[in-house]
Amino acid sequence: MNSPLWYKNAVFYEVYVRAFHDSNADGHGDLRGLTARLDYLQELGVDCLWLMPIYPSPLKDDGYDISDYYGVHPDYGTLEDFEELLAAAHARGLRVITDLVLNHTSDQHTWFQAARRDPSSLYRDYYVWSDDPGRYADARIIFLDTETSNWTWDPVAGQYYWHRFYASQPDLNFANPAVRREMLKVMKFWLDLGVDGFRVDAVPYLFEREGTNCENLPETHAYLKTMRRFVDEHYPGRILLCEANQWPRDVRAYFGKGDEFQLAFHFPLMPRIFMALRRGAAEPIRWALSETPPIPENCQWCTFLRNHDELTLEMVSEEERQWMWQEYAPDPGMRLNLGIRRRLAPLLDNDRRKIELACSLLFSLPGSPILYYGDEIGMGEDLSLPDRNGVRTPMQWDAGPGAGFSKAGYSYSPVIHAAPYHPEKVSVAAQRSDPQALLAAIRAMIALRKAHPVLGYGKLQWLEGDNPAVAAYRRTTRGQQLVILNNLSGERQSVRGIVLPGSRMTDLLTGKTCTPEAGSGALELRPFEPLWLVQDH
Ligand code: GLC
Repeated sequence: MNSPLWYKNAVFYEVYVRAFHDSNADGHGDLRGLTARLDYLQELGVDCLWLMPIYPSPLKDDGYDISDYYGVHPDYGTLEDFEELLAAAHARGLRVITDLVLNHTSDQHTWFQAARRDPSSLYRDYYVWSDDPGRYADARIIFLDTETSNWTWDPVAGQYYWHRFYASQPDLNFANPAVRREMLKVMKFWLDLGVDGFRVDAVPYLFEREGTNCENLPETHAYLKTMRRFVDEHYPGRILLCEANQWPRDVRAYFGKGDEFQLAFHFPLMPRIFMALRRGAAEPIRWALSETPPIPENCQWCTFLRNHDELTLEMVSEEERQWMWQEYAPDPGMRLNLGIRRRLAPLLDNDRRKIELACSLLFSLPGSPILYYGDEIGMGEDLSLPDRNGVRTPMQWDAGPGAGFSKAGYSYSPVIHAAPYHPEKVSVAAQRSDPQALLAAIRAMIALRKAHPVLGYGKLQWLEGDNPAVAAYRRTTRGQQLVILNNLSGERQSVRGIVLPGSRMTDLLTGKTCTPEAGSGALELRPFEPLWLVQDH
């Protein structure tokens, strides 16, 4: 993990600090609470924590609306608490990256307040203003459920301002060099404190230009390269992870020549894992991989199944979206914008076989996997909560009051008490020392991934067997080779043409010997069974 390319073989864990652990009994998770729970994360085996925004914010978008880039929200603690968290994490060999929201601020930020009040203020040009709300008409609206335009009239300013997300999140004007400098200053501040990098939020939208859809513009890439140069020059080894919900050909540009982002989320692969599982067919996964261009040696994809947002269906066709909604979000209350506001376990019918199979894909396909807090114990969702809050409920530590999350007697969000997701079953305490629990299975996959760097660094070769229900591929480096099979169907399957007849192999997941049929080379898989095969010598 000390290699400069550590991120290529790292397991990431996304933490919503408010949900993780409340150290001062005020009902909100905080930085000290997270620090107190680091042993658990170390035991789980993850390498790097990604913290959702912890900055001061009016919380109109759960902290993605920042009102001060240089502080910590009082609910979360203080900068000193953050430094302690970093020190404690680093002492355990855990890295920490934070969310960096460049594209917009909160409308409560002093820059915006100054900008709207005084047209001659230095800050006026920090934002994008117009007398005409018809400008940049080709830019789509992202938060379709709440916003009707990317322009909002500000009566104080007497002009419209531009925003790609909620109206309470005015976009910064990256055409202004002062804004570009400000953001480098913000990065410097947190890098000096010791963060290991940033998950950079909403990167495609930094610049606007008439006659374009205002996404992925060359000027945006040019600025991102400047950011990377800045990090490499002063903080070598720190990482930038790109959030661009785009097609791989467009995301490819964010890696540049290995001189822009080291990492980028693979958005189109994620829904196709769910599609494949529901259809009992490997094709959607194969297709997503075939659409994925090669990336520079020093770059890596980040794979994920779920995160703090809705399961986005922006990267599927209209027909596929309707099908995904019908299959995975039959109740309209499960839908949000162009996605599905649900957790991993309920999406997969709380079926252990399906959850483990999805994780097998997550941990064995190319890319650095990201786990979303609570999914490792199979947490449920609360659909009675608005927006994306239903997947941001308190981490379930034990079956005591407040699920071991808080001693306050109340919390920012209710704990999920309804069976089968209740803390008696779904909690760290219930699962920690149970070798049959989901937690143990996830921990084992993480450990295997660490023990077999080929899963991080290796090349992928898709194996065309004779059974379309089985996703099979080989991962190889010069010294190592693994053959991975995933039975996506709920039926027993047998597959030929993957391994040589008569070869003897061990399944790393179970430790069992696996011998293909002597004559045909057929391998048998149980319903939803994954196999991670290594050749016996
Ligand atoms: C990103 C975040 C999302 C947030 C949006 C606006 O997509 O993941 O939670 O609402 O950016 O900042």
